[in-house]
Amino acid sequence: METADIETDLSLFKYDNLEQLPERYRDLDEAERTERIEAAKAELGDDLVILGHNYQRREIVEHADFIGDSYQLSVEAAEADAEYVVFGGVTFMAESADIITDDDQTVILPSMEASCPMAGMAEALQVDAAWAEITEAAPEADIVPITYMNSYADLKAFCAEQGGAVCTSSNAHDVFEWAFERGDKVLFLPDKHLGENTAHRLGMEDSIAEWDPWDPEGKDGEARSASGSRAEPGVAEEVAESDVILWDGYCQVHERFREEHIRQVREDHPDANVIVHPECRREVVEAADVAGSTAAICDTVAEADPGETWAIGTEIHLTNHLQRWHPEVNVLPLCGDACMDCNAMRQIDPNYLTWVLEELVEGRERNVIEVAPREAELANVAMERMLEI
Ligand code: 13P
Ligand code: SF4
Repeated sequence: METADIETDLSLFKYDNLEQLPERYRDLDEAERTERIEAAKAELGDDLVILGHNYQRREIVEHADFIGDSYQLSVEAAEADAEYVVFGGVTFMAESADIITDDDQTVILPSMEASCPMAGMAEALQVDAAWAEITEAAPEADIVPITYMNSYADLKAFCAEQGGAVCTSSNAHDVFEWAFERGDKVLFLPDKHLGENTAHRLGMEDSIAEWDPWDPEGKDGEARSASGSRAEPGVAEEVAESDVILWDGYCQVHERFREEHIRQVREDHPDANVIVHPECRREVVEAADVAGSTAAICDTVAEADPGETWAIGTEIHLTNHLQRWHPEVNVLPLCGDACMDCNAMRQIDPNYLTWVLEELVEGRERNVIEVAPREAELANVAMERMLEI
């Protein structure tokens, strides 16, 4: 992979074939939209499957054939025979679906602006540059790159080329163990919190360093101890001394949760149980009763006894769905009104869904996600390694 001019080549949107919603779709009311979506679904029949991530709004998930976490939806996409897979989610999820589905299946992301900011924090070009510095700083070490599913296909491909793998929030610890059977160090991308939470779970908290790709010095990272105190800014050599090197990426939806929110909820609701997503900060995960992927959060609430109270530390649409789906359980947003929705997921507006479906009925494919063949092949290797672990 070539190292390019990072300043000029990085972009928020991975795909430049952004097709905007035509004017006539902008002001549909919910009743008309629902009728038109259902009519298009009936017309397309078995040629269509609609997937909805747990963070999508109600008006999307209620039209979805399958609702789930990013991993489950990729599996559903792989198992679907439908010619068209319309993905209610964000770009990296639609890319994974495209990689996993057959060549004659088309994956459509209703709005191409649904780009996860965290995936954009580790562009393959940047990682390639950092990799060169870190491996040069530790020439004797065998470093295994692991990327979270929340990353673009070119980064997954990079990890495959360097002997690494993909992980999800539910299997990160297994993938770390696999990596340490093969090498001496892990470079984990792009979510520093998931990486740190996993390192703690495996008892590796004494050997974590952070790599800040935005450091003005370019090459500097910051080593830090388990207590979170930071050492003096270190050069690549210092960072490369640690066993776990965390890329400095994060999800702004999950970083918002603080220990004070857990303290407050326990004070206001002494019977409350707290479950959070592992993209939350270390101290939040530690203070919670349970941490797990969106699927684990759904299962936990589904299995709760009537009358139990669960405070949820994740994207607000999922908390709202859980309140609707399980009225017998007392479901609370962990930080009340301050809980956020995901601005990338929000781009999948139901008017966009209406438009792409009606265009398919007319034989026109809009907002197609198509990963370049070589990149798809390599990214698939990294995903298959995960599935074998
Ligand atoms: P899951 O893989 O748990 O569905 O999470 C995806 C995500 O984007 C979390 O922010
Ligand atoms: Fe990305 Fe966070 Fe949104 Fe998940 S919730 S898609 S990690 S920005």
